[in-house]
Amino acid sequence: PIPVVHTIDAIRELVQEWKRQGLSVGLVPTMGYLHEGHQSLIERAAQDNDRVVVSDFVNPIQFGPSEDLESYPRDLQRDTALVERAGGSVLFNPTPAEMYFPNRTTAITMSTITEELCGKTRPVHFGGVCTVVAKLFNIVTPDRAYFGKKDAQQLLVIRRMVRDLNFNIEIIGCPIIREADGLAKSSRNTYLTEAERAAAPVLHRALERGRMLAESGERSSEVIIAAIREVLDSEPLTDTEYVEIVDLETVHPVPTLDQPVLVALAVRLGTTRLIDNFFFPDE
Ligand code: PAJ
Repeated sequence: PIPVVHTIDAIRELVQEWKRQGLSVGLVPTMGYLHEGHQSLIERAAQDNDRVVVSDFVNPIQFGPSEDLESYPRDLQRDTALVERAGGSVLFNPTPAEMYFPNRTTAITMSTITEELCGKTRPVHFGGVCTVVAKLFNIVTPDRAYFGKKDAQQLLVIRRMVRDLNFNIEIIGCPIIREADGLAKSSRNTYLTEAERAAAPVLHRALERGRMLAESGERSSEVIIAAIREVLDSEPLTDTEYVEIVDLETVHPVPTLDQPVLVALAVRLGTTRLIDNFFFPDE
């Protein structure tokens, strides 16, 4: 079985040995409870690199006070088997105490683009993501790092951080992996009740309606958003947080699709918050 390492020193030693041998290293950051979405990132990383580090760390500082840090699902044993099957070389599973020095005072903050979309309801989220990802980049020093388009704003934020702070790491965005009925795979889907799970594919159906309009030439954001909302509203269990069409650089809403955009939504089903999106044109 592949090794599971819990300390920063141990993962550094392993990576240093690989680098001495001239091997390339890919990093797939995750919070564990791995599914086929994570698996696709690991498989892609194993294609591109000689060695693949998968980090498995439920990062406390990216959760708000009323969010699901405590209840976030965990299963290290299952995760290890999946990483091995997918072609990962090692699982890095530090404790919060290993990652965060007491009385730490340094963090990464990013203005504007972290305040759009999910940032409006999750004000500390992207700062926490940037800080942990920057730490992982410094610990693992990978050649390439892999992120899913499922979390599209996260991908844009990480690309921006790498550009602004000159991390010498190539960021690879990977396609969204879905259930047969269209629901994007997510560790949080396990929170859904049977009725909510049955309703959840409406997110993808709504986005497909928007994509069809865009592909048939509709260029008004207002028209496309209204069509998406109409499909979402046809499902009584949904409580829509946002449907937005934004610029890829600023993540700010744009009135027309005359440039590459991200069409993104967040919907609550009961107490569970789900996100989904598409890029137009498809990247
Ligand atoms: P987590 O939610 O575990 O996701 C880890 C990676 O898997 C992210 O890049 C995410 O976009 C990708 N992913 C999740 N579901 C996917 C799907 N259905 N299809 C394709 N990719 C998918 O995102 C995080 O963890 C954290 O914020 C992290 C980056 C690890 C920082 O703590």
